[in-house]
Amino acid sequence: MSAESSATQESAVSQSSAQPKLSLYGGTGTGRRVTVRDLAKAKREGEKWAMLTAYDALTAGVFDEAGIPVLLVGDSAGNNHLGYENTVPVTVDQLVMLSGAVVRGTKRAMVIGDLPFGSYQASPQQALETAARYMKEAGVGAVKLEGGRRVLPQVDALVQAGVPVMAHIGLTPQSVNVLGGYRIAGRGDEEAEKLISDAKALQHAGAFAIVLELVPAELAARVSAELDVPTVGIGAGAGTDAQVLVWTDMAGLTPGGVPKFVKQYADMRTVLGDAARAFASDVVHGAYPDESHSYH
Ligand code: KIV
Repeated sequence: MSAESSATQESAVSQSSAQPKLSLYGGTGTGRRVTVRDLAKAKREGEKWAMLTAYDALTAGVFDEAGIPVLLVGDSAGNNHLGYENTVPVTVDQLVMLSGAVVRGTKRAMVIGDLPFGSYQASPQQALETAARYMKEAGVGAVKLEGGRRVLPQVDALVQAGVPVMAHIGLTPQSVNVLGGYRIAGRGDEEAEKLISDAKALQHAGAFAIVLELVPAELAARVSAELDVPTVGIGAGAGTDAQVLVWTDMAGLTPGGVPKFVKQYADMRTVLGDAARAFASDVVHGAYPDESHSYH
């Protein structure tokens, strides 16, 4: 064994004992991105993983280096990046541009591009044309779309054509106008059975993972136990195989209140606001730039 490989093994051992749950990620030095096979293996081995949204290269790079194995360029960019009220106005052009930035800003994470409202519902052909743009122009590793049985033909067509698909059921924000708001999905026997049957049908159509949004924890745990593919929960309790959060919620940048299921791991809004106020005050008082920030 060369000194180099022995050192690599030693560092892998110390890293794995310090962070035993990061084996799926494997580190930025692996030279390759996370694939659907890695996620399938994680499910078989009971390894949980984290997914975050990302909308730009710099933030995505931070998450990549932090060991987040899957990044979603969600249509939640609508309300969290582009200033819309919800996800409905987001266009394919916008998400393809943001997806390309996230791919360019990362080395290791699987980057998933979200198909926005109106870009896949019409037909499998429309879904395929949209997904092809994400793969060719942005270089994503997979796409995500919302819906249960009604999108099975789209999922099937995409997978047959070689596009890995993450499905998304439970609360589907693109349908906010039909739903009349954001409400917990799958409550009551009838809704629960429909959700379970949708999840199984999506798995059968070839989806490699399924997002469960705003679903009672017990139901999400049952779906996760009954599926062979990983489930990714958001507001779905602790029983799913993976968890996703919108990064601006997770990092405390989102203004106003956040839903109960969000845990805020930082207070970015205060940090950035304080930095901006300190800069403005320095400029106003002539304290910036000083000698150490000037050229002669
Ligand atoms: O668009 C998005 O960010 C999403 C996640 C919340 C799953 O769909």
